[in-house]
Amino acid sequence: MKVLTESNVRAACAQPASLTQFSSRTGVRSALPQWSVEQIQTEIQRIAELPLAKATTLPSQAYTSQEFFDWEVDHIFRNDWLPLAHMSQIPAAGDFLNIDMLGEPLIVVRGKEDRIRVLSRICPHRAMDIMPEGFGYSGHGIGDAKEGQPGCGHARLFMCPYHAWTFELDGRLKGSPEMQKTEDFERDAWGLKEFRCVVWNGFVFVNLDGTAPALNDRLTGLSEALAPWRLDEMKMVIQMEWDCPFNWKVLAENFMESYHHMGAHAKTLQPMMPAKGTWNEEERPAYVRAHLPLKDALVAEIESALARGEHPYGFPKIESLSDELCKEWHLFLVHPLMLMSANPDRLIFYRMMPLGPDRMKLLTTTLVPARTTEHPDWPAMLESETKRLRDFHLEDMEVCTAVQRGFYASGYQRGRLSYLEMSVWLIQRYLAARTRGVLPATVTPPAPSQRP
Ligand code: FES
Ligand SMILES: [Fe+2]
Repeated sequence: MKVLTESNVRAACAQPASLTQFSSRTGVRSALPQWSVEQIQTEIQRIAELPLAKATTLPSQAYTSQEFFDWEVDHIFRNDWLPLAHMSQIPAAGDFLNIDMLGEPLIVVRGKEDRIRVLSRICPHRAMDIMPEGFGYSGHGIGDAKEGQPGCGHARLFMCPYHAWTFELDGRLKGSPEMQKTEDFERDAWGLKEFRCVVWNGFVFVNLDGTAPALNDRLTGLSEALAPWRLDEMKMVIQMEWDCPFNWKVLAENFMESYHHMGAHAKTLQPMMPAKGTWNEEERPAYVRAHLPLKDALVAEIESALARGEHPYGFPKIESLSDELCKEWHLFLVHPLMLMSANPDRLIFYRMMPLGPDRMKLLTTTLVPARTTEHPDWPAMLESETKRLRDFHLEDMEVCTAVQRGFYASGYQRGRLSYLEMSVWLIQRYLAARTRGVLPATVTPPAPSQRP
């Protein structure tokens, strides 16, 4: 199966230079008043208590403050489950994926006994990254790189390129040359550090500080909603990597609200899924769910095309989905960093990887049932869908980049929200709950669904 990768895709708009003239990091004085972490938290708590009809945007400092970002790292990211991979990226024992999350260099590996582990890539000898970028990014085990999949490879052992120490796939130190004169050196004590991980519906998550409550219990309702997609049987077919000069919340908000179809996607998504018809389900502790119904006329057109044996969605319709599920796109934010778009023909999986208040990496990954890749027209479908995906992502990259610049401008004003931006408000309520060390909808009555 051919996997298209777009590791070199960089949004033309995503030029740091356009941002830095506004950024306080460059030495140019920001128009923003500086707020302490406590001030930002207090304001988030205040606005999260407003009903949606009175809702306002977050203070811009929530998107620009390094101190607030540092608080998020410890109190939102490191103590929760973060998405790293899909099992189809590491299908066989010895397959691995290297990925950095929050600056933490990690390997996701399927061990000899088929067990999935998340290991640190930091060598216990002198702190070398055992798969450093400068040495090429993929395939640094003692084995082969998997062509086309960034960071993926197959290995029998991992070897640190600095002094050639070797490690088993479970992280144990196997070889450490010329250490026989080092006193009290016990090989068993010097493996790669292992992080807590869990597999949910085929997705591998990591918990960096080891304290997160069980993930599966929190996502029961979501597992049921997504069961028809059979996520654990899907295969990754397109991966794009984006360097994003904006805060992770700018992207989460943008992804989850469809009010912007009217503007940013006026020619692409709005004619298919008009903003006005989109709606949110009730508040949940662990995720946000939005519905994007397809226009009635489009549903009728699609049904006739399907009856003629065509593929109006781009890829073939997923057979296990009911007709009802195929009448819309289903958007999900699994707090804090996983986004999904579950569509009639695919699932798009987004890994947000925050790097600072105004910087993140985004991996956008398309998954389809294995059967889809066996279609005789698969190569042509893959090519055209890759282009389409890139085009509508570029629209969002432009918007998000411009929004982040706006936070630093002296013309910046706090805004008011439309009822179509319920997801933005739910994200605020999530942040407010995290400032209190809890999850949303667990201490207050959950916000009700907006089902039309
Ligand atoms: S730092 Fe890895 S072997 Fe020395
Ligand atoms: Fe968008």
